[in-house]
Amino acid sequence: MEAIIQVMESTIGARDPYTVDHQQRTTHIAVAIAQRMGLSEARIEELHVAGSLHDLGKIAVPNEILSKPGKLTDLEFAIIKTHPQVAYNILKPLEIPGQVTQIIMQHHERINGSGYPHGLESREILLEAKILGVADVVEAMCSHRPYRPALGIDKALEEISQKRGVLYDPEVVDSCLLLYQETPTALMGEVCQIARRPSEALESLPEKIDKPARGLPGEENPGRWRWQNLVTDQSRLAMHIATGVALGFCLVYVSRHL
Ligand SMILES: [Fe+2]
Repeated sequence: MEAIIQVMESTIGARDPYTVDHQQRTTHIAVAIAQRMGLSEARIEELHVAGSLHDLGKIAVPNEILSKPGKLTDLEFAIIKTHPQVAYNILKPLEIPGQVTQIIMQHHERINGSGYPHGLESREILLEAKILGVADVVEAMCSHRPYRPALGIDKALEEISQKRGVLYDPEVVDSCLLLYQETPTALMGEVCQIARRPSEALESLPEKIDKPARGLPGEENPGRWRWQNLVTDQSRLAMHIATGVALGFCLVYVSRHL
């Protein structure tokens, strides 16, 4: 199973490394919530596998859509919404034991039936999929996107709190909030650090900012985020100044020794 995950992750990463990082961080959060809720080791292991591959289906979504800086059209959003089903179709022949493929298929379902791809209601959605769905939203809001900076952990927790019992399972939300209160690093790890130190994260993760990826499907996106361009411009300016100073010293040295 580990080999399968690695092959799948490599396949996704070859096209979109950002998605691999997102899947890993989402899995970290989902497992922490599941442990806080007291799920069995076997169920947590299935959740771990599902989390590691949950956006595999985005491999079928054109990059132009994943990285589009503006608002998605209805057609583009419809294409995005196929990714859980696509992942399911890819993984189905592998006959992965347990509920892994179903968890992946259901990770965008919402308890009021407004999710996709099948508009399932709460009682039809696996608990593991509900956990993965909450973790997915929290991670997405805590992470930088190509078109916006991280919104931060406070906004992420506010989102799941406000939609508690509407979109997100109350018990999952409560466990997530409690976990953050008790041991924030156990919940978020590096995600928290990214959310709290956006400027440092920018410098350490420039390659991630460049990757074509979309956060919450359907989310409005007013324009491409310019921070990286600012950093790049500053670096370029500093390099020009340093080069100019060095040339100046060279000219002075040469003129005095000729
Ligand atoms: Fe997804």
